[in-house]
Amino acid sequence: MTEPWRNPLRDERDKRMPRIAGPCGVVIFGVTGDLARKKLMPAIYDLANRGLLPPTFALVGFARRDWADEDFGQVVYDAVKQHARTPFRQEVWDRLAEGIRFVQGTFDDDESFARLSETLDKLDAERGTGGNHAFYLSIPPNAFPVVCEQLQKSGLARQQEGRWSRVVIEKPFGHDLDSARELNNVVNSVFPEESVFRIDHYLGKETVQNILALRFANELYEPIWNAHYVDHVQITMAENIGLGGRAGYYDGIGAARDVIQNHLIQLLALTAMEEPVSFNPHELQAEKIKVLSATHAMEPFDLTTARGQYTAGWQGSEKVPGLLEEEGFATDSRTETFAAITLGVDTRRWAGVPFLLRTGKRLARRVTEVALVFKRAPHLPFDSTMTEELGKNALVLRIQPDEGITTRFGSKVPGSAMEVRDVNMDFSYGSAFAEDSPEAYERLILDVLLGEPSLFPVNAEVELSWEILDPILKNWGSHGRPDPYEAGTWGPPAAFEMAHRLQREWRRP
Ligand code: BG6
Repeated sequence: MTEPWRNPLRDERDKRMPRIAGPCGVVIFGVTGDLARKKLMPAIYDLANRGLLPPTFALVGFARRDWADEDFGQVVYDAVKQHARTPFRQEVWDRLAEGIRFVQGTFDDDESFARLSETLDKLDAERGTGGNHAFYLSIPPNAFPVVCEQLQKSGLARQQEGRWSRVVIEKPFGHDLDSARELNNVVNSVFPEESVFRIDHYLGKETVQNILALRFANELYEPIWNAHYVDHVQITMAENIGLGGRAGYYDGIGAARDVIQNHLIQLLALTAMEEPVSFNPHELQAEKIKVLSATHAMEPFDLTTARGQYTAGWQGSEKVPGLLEEEGFATDSRTETFAAITLGVDTRRWAGVPFLLRTGKRLARRVTEVALVFKRAPHLPFDSTMTEELGKNALVLRIQPDEGITTRFGSKVPGSAMEVRDVNMDFSYGSAFAEDSPEAYERLILDVLLGEPSLFPVNAEVELSWEILDPILKNWGSHGRPDPYEAGTWGPPAAFEMAHRLQREWRRP
């Protein structure tokens, strides 16, 4: 019985102990894709190497290829050798390899799913996977309905006492609000919401989880984390890579759908939400849903947004092609590779504070950060020439690649005058901690196997994100095309003009 003075939300387990998945198997649909090869299979090996998978674990690949178990085993082996984070250990690999199976089949063929079901039954019996299965749909979303339907027909999606059956889906979760709702309906008609795990891999990153630690484990920041002190917030996800080889996925999707709808809006939610009562998944989701319901795109969109498309240019010493010259893209493609938008959050905490979000490919460098830029001190008792070079204070959460936190503030320049200039104070993961950060996919796959839903956006979050973005996409779709920007720069002039109009300035990380 719960003692009356105990907070029922408090779980007394020591959460520092490693959590190890129980008996289970993972089935990957789309094993020939990039994601499976570069992220999923290596993450599974890394988990095994860290001792976080049960000895009875099984990995099943499903694809059209005419492969035997050994051929698929070789594909996994190559992926692990090339992309795993942790060192290769033969004994770990040998144990993992014993549980690797391949099912050859197509999505619309009942027979293929009957074979999958047989394979899983056999693994349950021989290896002891306990009837617990995660189905990872690393496939284009237009194939979700047929695969979900097949999982239902073959009985694999059935929720049975003492066993679990979960589905893992990758973005894009739809193309707009309507299609996201349709997709959610299809998935939820087969799997109950608590068995659906939507991957937004940004939520698996250490530095993203650290936003919650920074805000809610400290007394220092939360008192100034509001419109009284914060002038605006900038969320940047810049990449220097281009889109060569990704036309099939990206053409017609663009930067806003690819990255803002999910990663950047999730970063906004964690930055802007109120403190949850506890880190119980439902409390956390409730706060994210609340803040997303209060978030809207600021208008008029012609003035508060910008979009661009990269043209040929230089990335360091390499000459790189423009999007329209990349293989597979329509020569008149209107797909944006850069997007910047302005959002407002209508809560007491954030009223009047613009949130500027931007992302782009082929930008000057790879960097993701959340920057809280503070208001100027209300009065500067200095000679004005002494503070000419003083900018606004900022707290920068460096998500990647140089993970850490920077505080930017004014300091006296050594000398006889009282000159004040900006300096940085840095915390860096690399020097503060000896441990390496796990890859986002390691954490997320383990959480799926443990049935821990905190880091997975629920249906409502996905739909709210589309509600925020849809009006902008509609506006962009109805006229014009993205402005060109040269590869290796920080995006089109329109993005800088947008910030200027708001009397703000983008940081140059
Ligand atoms: C993916 C996007 O979700 O995130 C890609 O589809 C992008 O376009 C990638 O390159 C970036 O991930 P990360 O972890 O390298 O920042």
